[in-house]
Amino acid sequence: MIKGLQSMSDLFSKIDLEKGSLGGRPVENRYLSNLRGFFANEDAYQSCLEQDNALLYSVSSMTPAEGEGQLHLGLGVLYPGKVGDEYYMTKGHLHTKREAAEVYVGLKGVGYMLLEHEVSQESMLVSLAEGEVVYVPGYTAHRTINTGDMPLAYLGIYPWDAGHDYGAIAERNFLKVLVEREGQPVLLDRQ
Ligand SMILES: [Fe+2]
Repeated sequence: MIKGLQSMSDLFSKIDLEKGSLGGRPVENRYLSNLRGFFANEDAYQSCLEQDNALLYSVSSMTPAEGEGQLHLGLGVLYPGKVGDEYYMTKGHLHTKREAAEVYVGLKGVGYMLLEHEVSQESMLVSLAEGEVVYVPGYTAHRTINTGDMPLAYLGIYPWDAGHDYGAIAERNFLKVLVEREGQPVLLDRQ
């Protein structure tokens, strides 16, 4: 049990979209080399990587309190770009605690969240842009995709003990891929 209010620095954060930081907290970067095996076109991935190990996204998280009922916050900034015709995206994950839901709040930019239910294997592509909110139910793998030409920034809010399980989705990847066709995003089955 938390016996009182914590310090203001635990409870308040200013979002710094330039630095991708939540109230000056550390920023973890994910580069193209960290997403080996995630993009559908392996040849395109190799040639992109040879040109530049680009920064794909950053995450800064805040752990105000731990314990039953508490929440964590994560600020994500996903940069624009493509590997072949597949847009830059996050690795995507399930929560270790499968029933844990999450709310994403779009702060800047345009893109999508790709949702995939672990049990039914249904997929859904949901818009995530500035001023938009997406509810990710439990048991749902989620990945963020930037289809715009500026960084896509968003805040994720989730139970403190949700945890991140990257392995389960990395083993077989998402069933769908979001690619550009004639300038428009199109959701296709993974080949
Ligand atoms: Fe999550």
